[in-house]
Amino acid sequence: MSDMLLFSPMTIRGVTLKNRIVVPPMHQYSAEKGFPTDWHLMNAGKFAAGGAGLVIVESTKVERRGCGTIGDLGIWDDKFIAPLSRVAGFIKQQNAVAGIQLGHSGRKARASRPWEGDRPLERSAEIEDWDAWTPVAPSAIAHSERWPVPRALETQDVKDLVAAWGQAARRAHEAGFDVLELHGAHGYLVHEFLSGRSNQRSDEYGGSEANRMRFLIEVTEAVRAHWPDHKPLFVRLSVEDNAGWGPEQSARLATILKPRGVDVIDCSSGGISEMAPILGKEIKYNYQVPLAEYVRAHADIMTMAVGLIIHGDQAEQILRDKQADLIAVGREILNNPNWPMDAALKLGVEGPFRNVPPQFGYWLGTRAKRGFGTRPSTWQNGLREAGPEADRELT
Ligand SMILES: Cc1cc2nc3c(=O)[nH]c(=O)nc-3n(C[C@H](O)[C@H](O)[C@H](O)COP(=O)(O)O)c2cc1C
Repeated sequence: MSDMLLFSPMTIRGVTLKNRIVVPPMHQYSAEKGFPTDWHLMNAGKFAAGGAGLVIVESTKVERRGCGTIGDLGIWDDKFIAPLSRVAGFIKQQNAVAGIQLGHSGRKARASRPWEGDRPLERSAEIEDWDAWTPVAPSAIAHSERWPVPRALETQDVKDLVAAWGQAARRAHEAGFDVLELHGAHGYLVHEFLSGRSNQRSDEYGGSEANRMRFLIEVTEAVRAHWPDHKPLFVRLSVEDNAGWGPEQSARLATILKPRGVDVIDCSSGGISEMAPILGKEIKYNYQVPLAEYVRAHADIMTMAVGLIIHGDQAEQILRDKQADLIAVGREILNNPNWPMDAALKLGVEGPFRNVPPQFGYWLGTRAKRGFGTRPSTWQNGLREAGPEADRELT
C-alpha cells in the first residue's frame, strides 16, 4: 500500500482500478476497414504493461459515417467483437482495466490524418465507400469555411443513431471491456448536438438547452440498457468550448447524467470551432484541471483531469487538492509508456515495480534491492554519477 493517492486503488461500481492513472483515448490511425491490427495490441499492451490502472482504447466509431479519418476503429457491427476482444483481453492480462471510448465524428468526419494537414479528404479510388461516408450533423452547418457542409440528420436518423450507440455498448461489453467512455467532446457529433452554434434544429433535439442535451441523454440511456450495471460509464465533455458552452452547462448536464448511470465526467475542452479555449492564452500545466474541479464541486460527480499533466508530483497534487478523482496522462505516456513506474519511483512509493508485470517488475525489483535503478533512468547525468553510491546520494 502507498499513502500516495495516485497509487491508491479505486473501486467504481464492480470494477477496481489498481491506481488512479488512466491512459486516455488516443486515435492510432491504424485500423484496417475499422478492424484493429497488431498495432492496437502492441499500443494498448505497452501502456497496460507500463502500470496504468485503466487503459481506454481510442474513439471507436458507432457507425461507418462517424469515422473521422482513414484508420479509425469501428464497432458498428458484431464482426468487430472478436478482434476487439483480443485487445481487451491483452490489457486485462497485464492486470490493468480495459476501457474503450465510443465516438462519432459528425461533421468532422472524412478528414485527413492530423499530420497530413487536418483538412477534408478528397475523393479517391482508394476510398471505396465514399458516399456512405458522407458527414452528418444536427444541422447543415459546416465546422468552418474550410470544411464541407454536412447532411442534417432527419429526426428518425437521430433515433436510429441513439440505438446504434446502444448496440455499440453491447458489443464493447461482449468484447470484454470493463469501462466505457462516451465521446461527447471536441466538436464531434455529441458535442455538435449540445452546442447552439452547430445545432439549429427545430425538432425535439434542438432549440432549448434541454432539447440540445436530449441526444446525449438518450444515448446514455440506450448505452446503460446494454452496458451492465456493475461496469462504470464515463462521459468526456468539452467542459468549456469557447462558443457558448461552459462549466455551468456542463455541471447541469452532469447532474442529469449521473442518475442515468454516468459515474465519471472526463473533463476536456474545445473543438467546436477553430478557436480552442486555450488559443491566445499561455498554455500551461493543468490547463483543464479547473474544469474538472468545477464539475466535481458543482455536480457532485467524480471527474477525470486531463491535459498537460506530465509529472508524478503534479498528478498527486491534483488528487490531494480534490480537483479530480482520476488522472489521465496522454502525450506524456506516448513519450514514456512506463510513466506509472517512473511516477512511483519519483514519489517514493513502496514497491514501485509492483504496478508492472513480473516479467520485468521482478527483475527491476531485485536490482533495486542492490541499490541500482531506484531512480528514473533520466534522473542522473550519466555514467559518471551512475551506480549505487549515486543512487544513495540522491535519496
Ligand atoms: C494522438 C492523439 C490521439 C487522440 N485521440 C483522441 C480520441 O480518440 N478521443 C479523445 O477523446 N481524445 C483524443 N485525444 C486527446 C487526448 O485524449 C488528451 O485529451 C489530450 O492529448 C490532452 O492530454 P495530454 O496533454 O496528457 O496529452 C488524442 C490525443 C492525441 C495526442
